[in-house]
Amino acid sequence: MKNDLQKRENWTTRLGFILAAAGSAVGLGNIWRFPYVTGTNGGAAFLFIYLIAIILIGYPLMVTEMTLGRKTQRNPVGAFKALAPNTPWWLVGGLGVLTGFVILSYYSVVAGWSLAYIFKALGGFVPEMAFGEVFTDHITGVGVPIFWHAVFMALTIGVISAGVVKGIQRAVKTLMPILFILLVVLIIRSLTLDGASEGLRFYLSPDFSEITAQTFMDAIAQAFFTLSLGMGAIITYGSYLSEDANIGDNAAYVVGLDTLIAVMAGLAMFPALFALTDVSPDAGPGLTFITLPAVFAEMPLGSFFGFIFFVLLSIAALTSAISLLEVVVAWAVDEKDIERKKASIIVGIIIFIVGIPPVLGYSAWSDFSFLGFDVLDTYDWIANSIFLPLGGLLTAVFAGYVWKARNLADEANKVGGVINIGEWYGFLVKIVVPIAIAVVMVVTIAQTLM
Ligand code: PHE
Ligand code: NA
Repeated sequence: MKNDLQKRENWTTRLGFILAAAGSAVGLGNIWRFPYVTGTNGGAAFLFIYLIAIILIGYPLMVTEMTLGRKTQRNPVGAFKALAPNTPWWLVGGLGVLTGFVILSYYSVVAGWSLAYIFKALGGFVPEMAFGEVFTDHITGVGVPIFWHAVFMALTIGVISAGVVKGIQRAVKTLMPILFILLVVLIIRSLTLDGASEGLRFYLSPDFSEITAQTFMDAIAQAFFTLSLGMGAIITYGSYLSEDANIGDNAAYVVGLDTLIAVMAGLAMFPALFALTDVSPDAGPGLTFITLPAVFAEMPLGSFFGFIFFVLLSIAALTSAISLLEVVVAWAVDEKDIERKKASIIVGIIIFIVGIPPVLGYSAWSDFSFLGFDVLDTYDWIANSIFLPLGGLLTAVFAGYVWKARNLADEANKVGGVINIGEWYGFLVKIVVPIAIAVVMVVTIAQTLM
């Protein structure tokens, strides 16, 4: 199995790689997590800080991970081992594998909600429905959400073990534009509702007095999560990237597309949230699943559009989930010599089991509370407010000081493109990224514990 490394397949076209990386990036993070985190953090001011985090932290780290992967052609653990042999740096890759594991376990639960909503849409969305109750009824069940979580994990395992990732990515090429068009339709419907302006103001007109250290922490966490950074997914995908691709440009495409979809999701969501529901914008993880059906109910052929939308959201979630599982499986295959199919199935089943507590957190284990979080939010907090920023910080330090920013830039610039990885990159990755993450993490953790 080790010689897989030499025979490692490359994405045959530049488009293939972009599709894969964009497939990993665009997912529940954009349509489920981004709106509710924005809502919890007061709206527009959060959006502003989030966009800064994307540019100053997200983009340079996207370049970093893509280059680390292409240079070493390894999974995250192997990548650090290859560039800094006999040092503890491989632990950063190890942390990434662990993070992928934790994220996928609850990601699959939420993706299961999306699968279930495909059928709820088929049953019809009508204006007089109490969408908040429909959602609560769904998540406080036990058997049904576990069933959909199992279905989603089975799909993910199926794709990874059969090695048909590329086939899925190719399908995404046609599906993404449809998701995009549907979002445009939703935005138009949402903006033309009576009372839309209040939501628009909430989302786009910032009140900077609301910003706290927590706002920065949540913006950084969301930037990492949505761009699939800080845990090696992009290192892993970059390892399949061929020599003749310009990294600065590829990274910009992925970051730009992901950000566009998130911003659009917010535009579809907030006007409708204020116009149609009595749900508060800081309602948390249910926001999308309560608001969107309310918008569909206000549209001609709403159930049909809702059906298509949740199918596409589930597929977007699947292309993200395969990148999460791939990190763990690539590690098991490359480093532990386990056969691919076997690794996918074993790892996938363990992840499924680890994902059961987040389901039960809404019913049998609803007494559970950690810093005020339920089980799913606890997993989410540990992964996104601790593991991803820590992984990103250490990756930046590694690239900037150990492998050296200059070497990374040379590798990234091998083939010319529009964006040249210049001096600015070293400044960001050596100074801005590590200091910003460290300060924000220390302050928020101190505040949380106090
Ligand atoms: N970026 C994905 C999303 O927005 C989630 C993800 C996180 C995927 C980390 C891979 C790694 O839905
Ligand atoms: Na995303």
